[in-house]
Order: sequence, then C-alpha cells, then structure tokens
Amino acid sequence: MINLILFGPPGSGKGTQAAKIIEKYTLIHISTGDLFRYEMSHDTPLGMQAKEYIGKGELVPDSITIGMLRNKVESHPEAKGFIFDGFPRTIPQAEALDALLTGMETSISALIALEVQDEEIIKRIMLRGETSGRPDDSDESIIRNRIEVYNSETAPVFDYYKQQNKSYSINGIGTIEEIFDHISEVLDDL
Ligand code: C5P
Ligand code: MG
Repeated sequence: MINLILFGPPGSGKGTQAAKIIEKYTLIHISTGDLFRYEMSHDTPLGMQAKEYIGKGELVPDSITIGMLRNKVESHPEAKGFIFDGFPRTIPQAEALDALLTGMETSISALIALEVQDEEIIKRIMLRGETSGRPDDSDESIIRNRIEVYNSETAPVFDYYKQQNKSYSINGIGTIEEIFDHISEVLDDL
C-alpha cells in the first residue's frame, strides 16, 4: 500500500495535485475539507457542527474529524492506498492516523508538503473564492486566520513525520505539471 499525506497551507494546490496523483497511481483520495463541505451542504448534524468552526477559519475538534476520517477509510477495504488531503491537521490527528493504519497493518509512506508563501496563498484563495462559493475563501481576515492556525497547529505535523524520515518538501509555485513531476519523483522512489 502507498499511503500519502498531501500537506501544505490552504490554497497550496493539494486538491489539484491529488486529482492528478489518483489518475496515475490507484489511490483513494480523502479530503476531509470536501467531506465537511458535503455534510454542510446536506445540513447533517455533523455538517452543522463543523460549520461553526469552518466559517471562522478554525479547526473542527479532533474527535469529530478523526471519527469522520476513520469511517471513510473503513468504507474502502478494497483500497490499494490512500491520499490524505487536508488531514492530519494536528499532532493528535497524526497519532490517530498512525494508529488506524497500524491496525490495518500498513503505515504512512510519505508526507509531501507544498511550499507557498503567505501573500501568494491569500491571492490564490481570494481568486478561488470568486467561483468556489466557499464563505471561508472570500474574507481576507478568515483566510489569514486559517494561515495562522496552519502555522501554529498544522505545521508541527511536518516535523512529526520528519522524525520518521517521511517528510518531503516541494516548491508549490510553478505550473501544475512541474509540481506534479516533482511529486512523481518522490513517489517513484518509495
Ligand atoms: O482542507 P480544507 O482547506 O478544504 O479545509 C477547509 C476547512 O475545513 C478548514 O479551514 C477547517 O476549518 C476545516 N478542517 C478541519 N480539520 C481538517 C480539515 C479541514 O477543521 N482536518
Ligand atoms: Mg482542498
């Protein structure tokens, strides 16, 4: 199994690259942000809980996010591997993911971080907001909060997997193809 974490700040291109990776490698793409947006659009209890946090650019509490992720992974017993996009966002989420995969007799193969500077991220997300319909993409103060939360709570996950020699850093500026080529080089060496 190849189990990949696509890592990086909001707007760094994780979703775009995940779509290309699953074309080339047979992996199941799990975006916790997309799962939350699905729940919110259907006004489910989970969606209504998540909305309170997402609307402010905060993280949904670990217990909720980890439970949702676990259900999704367990619904794919046939999977040859997974791409985790937007998860784990905290150290407890990383520990829970490792425990879940250990229970399946597998583990994370690599974490690939897309590096993009803050001002570029803000430009990209504001542009995405014009068409994404996401309220959290359309307000600069919410975007800045998402970046702050990323720096304080999520960035440590890079070091957590670095200690396991699994973290790779890739320049997230360039064409979609150039960035994908760099990701492929990492994956083909695993
Ligand atoms: O991953 P994405 O940027 O699409 O996530 C959108 C929002 O969903 C985040 O800003 C955050 O509020 C919430 N989220 C979360 N925990 C995750 C993934 C997403 O709280 N693991
Ligand atoms: Mg995304």
